[in-house]
Amino acid sequence: MSGKRGAPPAQASSSVVTRTASLADLGPVLVLESKVFASDRMSRRSVRRFLVSPHAVVLVADVEGCICGAAVVLVRCTSDVARLYSIAVDPDCAGRGVGCALLAAAEDAASARDCLYLRLEVHENNARAIALYRKTGYREFGRLHEYYLDRGHALRFEKRLSPQVASLARAPPYFHQTTEFTCGPACLLMALAWGDRAFTPSPAMEFRLWREATTIFMSNGLGGCEPFGMAVALKRRGLSSEIFVSRPGPYFLDTVRSAEKRRVMRIAQEDFVAEAKALGLPVHLTNADESVAMPALDAGAAAIVLVSDGADTASDATLPSLQRLLLQSDVFLYAIGIDAPDARSSTRINPWPLRELSAEGGGYTEIIHDSAELVPATARIADELNHQYMLGYSPSHAGDGQFHTIRVFVKGEGDYQIRARRGYLARGSRSL
Ligand SMILES: CC(C)(COP(=O)(O)OP(=O)(O)OC[C@H]1O[C@@H](n2cnc3c(N)ncnc32)[C@H](O)[C@@H]1OP(=O)(O)O)[C@@H](O)C(=O)NCCC(=O)NCCS
Repeated sequence: MSGKRGAPPAQASSSVVTRTASLADLGPVLVLESKVFASDRMSRRSVRRFLVSPHAVVLVADVEGCICGAAVVLVRCTSDVARLYSIAVDPDCAGRGVGCALLAAAEDAASARDCLYLRLEVHENNARAIALYRKTGYREFGRLHEYYLDRGHALRFEKRLSPQVASLARAPPYFHQTTEFTCGPACLLMALAWGDRAFTPSPAMEFRLWREATTIFMSNGLGGCEPFGMAVALKRRGLSSEIFVSRPGPYFLDTVRSAEKRRVMRIAQEDFVAEAKALGLPVHLTNADESVAMPALDAGAAAIVLVSDGADTASDATLPSLQRLLLQSDVFLYAIGIDAPDARSSTRINPWPLRELSAEGGGYTEIIHDSAELVPATARIADELNHQYMLGYSPSHAGDGQFHTIRVFVKGEGDYQIRARRGYLARGSRSL
């Protein structure tokens, strides 16, 4: 291949136009195939089939009216993984951003078919293509031994695609809380900035919101904000707020020992409840689970997810009682602990309880060191959930209310990570 790198991509890519190919493009795509590949080319019959198949998308890249690149994406209605079957750029246009543009178009086409991943195989010696995939966010996840005609191995790459949700484009601007007790105000600032793009969050506003919505005391230090107070603060600033709480307040009283502090917290919280009532804020005594979240997201809402640092400031339950509850449920539990090495020793997290709990829930715990590592850690969990197998069987005995252990073994060698629950509580007769 003569692929000498030409004009800088930014300059040339502006003239690259990608589009879905039609049957009229059959000839130019075949010419391109013969120019790019010395062997193992797509036949006329294959290209024609891809052009009309509902399970394939053929994309072409035009530069000044000439087709200089093509890609084929395969999709199946039963899978959320699309496959990049082929990508080729005319050697005369190499290094001008055509490959990048085609890959982006392939990802868009896969997303438009509701696929969450785009996967591909590439010859281990194809340094140029590998550089393109790595640069655009693909990660290697496997190898296929002697996959190619020359007995070369294939590297398997995949990329997690962003769902095309309109509200993602309008994601709230991020505001990092400046103290350890202002996570609530930081969320309020993000909500306010989302509602009004001209609003600029600031630490002064962070503390003003904290003064409005704090429980005053909590644990050993200053109080955090509580839900009624935060909803009132938002309503006062013109946003409509609704309150979902899993149990009635007042909250956090059990975190302080002094009766005087409890009295202050109770009065402050009763006042928030009275104010929420006066403002007519809807209050729902229920968990804000996916039955609440999904309709809101469908209606264009965005979610601000508050991830705690895992420091235990207000536990209602002991570790063994939580483990017992997990045993009786079917939930999978994963945990991410943020353990900043420069944090005060009193706020360092103890990964052991998290590991115990997540192992009981069939998942795992990952300890990271700052919030920048959160996205890849979350992606790894999402990746694992997306690649799990569910194994089931019907126990021969009747439900006896006892705990029964399970051991899962996988025969042979493979690129597997075995993670399974340690057992189950046999309640009544049921299939697992
Ligand atoms: C791989 C291929 C599609 C790249 O297309 P392209 O239009 O040249 O790529 P782009 O101009 O968009 O470059 C994107 C990135 O690819 C990599 N790249 C492109 N040409 C490269 C070269 N000669 N050497 C090393 N990396 C190169 C770089 O990471 C580049 O990013 P950068 O310019 O910021 O450094 C093209 O070379 C091709 O068709 N190769 C033959 C067919 C093939 O191998 N297909 C892939 C099968 S899996």
